[in-house]
Amino acid sequence: MSVRPEVRAARAYHFTPRPARIKLDQNESPYDLPLELKAKVWAKLQDNPWNRYSELAAESLRTAIARYHGWDEAGVVVSSGSNVLIQAFVAACGINQRVLNLRPTFAVYSEQARLLGAPLTELPLNEDFSLPIPGLLNELECGPGVLFLANPAAPTGNAFAQDEIETLLNAAPDWTVVFDEAYHQFADTDLLPLVSTNSNTASLRTFSKAFGLGGVRLGYALTSPYLAQNLQKLLLPFSVSALQVATGLTVLEHPEYVAARAAEAKRERAFLLAELQKLPKLTVYPSQTNFLLFHVGDAEAFFFSLLDAGVLVRRQDHLPGLEGCLRVSVGTPEENRAFVAAAQRASEAVVVRG
Ligand SMILES: Cc1ncc(COP(=O)(O)O)c(C=O)c1O
Repeated sequence: MSVRPEVRAARAYHFTPRPARIKLDQNESPYDLPLELKAKVWAKLQDNPWNRYSELAAESLRTAIARYHGWDEAGVVVSSGSNVLIQAFVAACGINQRVLNLRPTFAVYSEQARLLGAPLTELPLNEDFSLPIPGLLNELECGPGVLFLANPAAPTGNAFAQDEIETLLNAAPDWTVVFDEAYHQFADTDLLPLVSTNSNTASLRTFSKAFGLGGVRLGYALTSPYLAQNLQKLLLPFSVSALQVATGLTVLEHPEYVAARAAEAKRERAFLLAELQKLPKLTVYPSQTNFLLFHVGDAEAFFFSLLDAGVLVRRQDHLPGLEGCLRVSVGTPEENRAFVAAAQRASEAVVVRG
């Protein structure tokens, strides 16, 4: 058998779906796309011949995304989810060079580096989840390669200091720096101004979070024409379907939709933060995303206590640096109140046991 050793040694991406009344485990939007918008997608699809291949590289959506952001169309790359772009960046800039990454962070950066056999260095975040600047500067001296930075960060939820990000950029002229801004609509941060003035950088965006389209699988990169042109070579031809294009075009025609959803998520996040702060033996970390990380000590007991109450959150206690932690996505106002009630009971049970 000829499977490469790196692939044989790698663990498959792990996710256990669990049925639950209230699903707050995947940082999705709690709202499905409204029926009026689904009808508009369907109308676009009806005008499309299904026997014909879709556009080679989702050109019409690329144009719409460029217009939406005021970005040069030549610097936009569309894919079936931003995960695909992470893989493409590892292939384009990491193989036979380097992948530099933080820990804990979104698992896909390191998983792809391992699978594709790219030399990987992971540096632990500081205890307060800030960037380990001296260590990163040290590593950046030995390029070239690709540095991944999720900002706001996942699963910690914080945003990094802008001046520190600029310090890293200044030290990385021969690196490609990928800012994963999957959660930027929930944050006060926007790294596009930096991307527009640094041709070796890219911002990854997704329709899976604020746009509420996790099931459609759609993401994109905003970058320089040079990086876009090279990244596009790594994507398979015709790999974004007509369904995906029609859905992306439709939501971009209704920017008020995503703005309203993001505004509600921010209000509800503030509510959840305030309520979790009241609970004994629980530490909740401030977040710029649509989820909150919190420390409970006995994460397993707390997780199952919530699940017994019908609330599914995500365990993070297997990650180095996040022992005892769980993560909850911001849901609808009703779901959030049910979660808080279940968390209150779980926290009392843990105290009694303790
Ligand atoms: C930081 C980060 N980047 C990317 C993604 C994946 O985005 P997509 O659904 O577009 O592949 C996620 C999903 O959870 C994420 O947390």
